[in-house]
Amino acid sequence: MESYLPELNGMIQGIRKGRNVYEGYQRGWGIQFGGLKEKILKDPLYKDAFAIARDRTIMSEENRMNIFLLLRFFIDKLPFGHIVEYGSYRGGSAIFMAYVAKKLYPGMKVFALDSYEGMPSTDKNVDAHNAGDFGDVDFHALQQRVQDLGLDNLILVKGFFESTNDSVMSQAGKISFAHIDCDIQPAVRYSYEGVRPFMVDGGYIVFDDATVSSCIGATEVVEDLLIRRDGLNSEQIWPHFVFRAFANEA
Ligand SMILES: C[S@@+](CC[C@H](N)C(=O)[O-])C[C@H]1O[C@@H](n2cnc3c(N)ncnc32)[C@H](O)[C@@H]1O
Repeated sequence: MESYLPELNGMIQGIRKGRNVYEGYQRGWGIQFGGLKEKILKDPLYKDAFAIARDRTIMSEENRMNIFLLLRFFIDKLPFGHIVEYGSYRGGSAIFMAYVAKKLYPGMKVFALDSYEGMPSTDKNVDAHNAGDFGDVDFHALQQRVQDLGLDNLILVKGFFESTNDSVMSQAGKISFAHIDCDIQPAVRYSYEGVRPFMVDGGYIVFDDATVSSCIGATEVVEDLLIRRDGLNSEQIWPHFVFRAFANEA
C-alpha cells in the first residue's frame, strides 16, 4: 500500500526510550503542520469509514485521523493482534475502526466495550464527569446498524469494564491496538491495567482524553502509572497520547 506519510530529513529512525520518535513525528507533525490532513481527507478508505460512522461519534477529527494512520500504515508492522476500545458510547469510533480493519486485515476483530448506559459513579476529587453521563444510547439501534453494515468483525461488549474485560481478553488473546476513551480516572486506570498484559510487542496504547481539558482524571492515570510507575515516554502527545507496549523497554 502506497504511503503518503511525510519524510523527515535528518531524523534518525528506530526505537529510542521505548518509542519510535520518527514515526510519532510523521503522524503528529504531519497532521498538525505537514499537510497530511488534506491527504487523509482524500483517502477513499478514510472517506468511506467516516461516512458510515460520522453520525455516531464525538471524537475530534485529528484524533480520528491519527487512529486512521496507525491502523493503515503502522499496525501491519506488529505481530498480529486484535483491537479493543474502552468507551464506545454510540459506537462511532468503533464502527470507523472496524470498517478500516475489515478492509485491511482479515480476521482482525474490534472489541467495543461500554456500559452503553453511561458512566458509573465518578471520583469527584479528580473527575468532572458524573454518573450517567453518555447514557443516551439506543443499544438495540446500534446493534442493528452494525448488522446492516455487515461489520461481522465488530463485537459490542455491553457492561462495565470491570465485569467484561477478563472474558474479552481471554477471547482476544492478543491486542495490537488499544483505544482508551473512557474519560474518568478509575475507568482509564482499569483499562490500562487490564489490557497491558495482552499487548503484542510494540503494540499501541492510545488515550483519547488524557490531554483534554475536561478529563484530568485520565491525565492522572498517564502521569501516575505510565510515566512514573512504568517509566514510559510517549510516542505522541498530540493529537492524543500514544504509548508503545514493548516487552523489554529500551
Ligand atoms: C467519551 S465516551 C466515548 C466516545 C466514543 N469513543 C466516540 O468516539 O464517540 C466515553 C464512554 O465511556 C464509557 N465508560 C466510562 N467508564 C466506563 C466503565 N467503567 N465501564 C463501561 N463503560 C464506561 C461511558 O459509558 C461513555 O460511553
